Amino acid sequence: MSSPTKTSPIGVFDSGVGGLSVLRAIHEQMPSENLLYFADQDHVPYGSRSLEEIRQFSEAVTHFLLARGAKIIVVACNTASAAALHHLRGAFPEVPFVGMEPAVKPAAEQTHSGVVGVLATPATFQGELYASVIERFASDVIVLQNTCFGLVEEIERGALDGQKTHQILEAALRPMLGRGLDTVVLGCTHYPFVIPLIEQICGDSVRVIDPAPAVAKQVERRLETLGLLSKNGARGEIQLYTSGDGEKLKSLVPQLCERSYPVKEVGWENGRPN
Ligand code: DGL
Repeated sequence: MSSPTKTSPIGVFDSGVGGLSVLRAIHEQMPSENLLYFADQDHVPYGSRSLEEIRQFSEAVTHFLLARGAKIIVVACNTASAAALHHLRGAFPEVPFVGMEPAVKPAAEQTHSGVVGVLATPATFQGELYASVIERFASDVIVLQNTCFGLVEEIERGALDGQKTHQILEAALRPMLGRGLDTVVLGCTHYPFVIPLIEQICGDSVRVIDPAPAVAKQVERRLETLGLLSKNGARGEIQLYTSGDGEKLKSLVPQLCERSYPVKEVGWENGRPN
């Protein structure tokens, strides 16, 4: 594999469409970067899978993106970051990675009521990363948690305002509001797509923290340090890949990103995309 250059693409992946919330922020922050995005929709959701499985998928997708010249890998999935980031850094020691961690630190700094809610998948809550974030940043606040069972699937279907989506969020947030919640942390990259609904349920006084802009800035800092930041002024190109149904992804993207991107469907054979 040849060495990456400034014009090499940024590789971004998630189990599905969730990481598009991060891709969107990266594109806004660094419009001239070329971006490759892999949605592992053949295996979504990751959140209820074993750590071992999530590691295997994440490693295989990383291989795929590196083979297409990625200069950095953004694990735009809290679940894969919790389960596999450490493993990926060990497996690809030469490759720079940026991952996600629930934004408990800013939430703990910003809350007035001292009650913070985290919405994330079961695998994220079970991981060591989450335990360490809570230990480091949340000693002075009450942290309430909910896995929003079924929400990732609804968002994958594009049901951003559907009845089931309403029910899941109501069931997660009402009890938290009853306990004085004033700050919600989106600990799953799918959830920024339902921010309007979360705001509708919680009202104006509750702050919702989407970590995507901070992650985009972090990617920019890493590229700057590595001397790999593209500053040529030209508009970057974006290519999406999915291990699932390409047509379905193509029709969903405008709803999520307010514009279309080319999509290629990729088969998953012998434990890897190709
Ligand atoms: N978007 C994901 C996350 O940030 C994964 C959701 C899932 O596949 O369960 O956790």
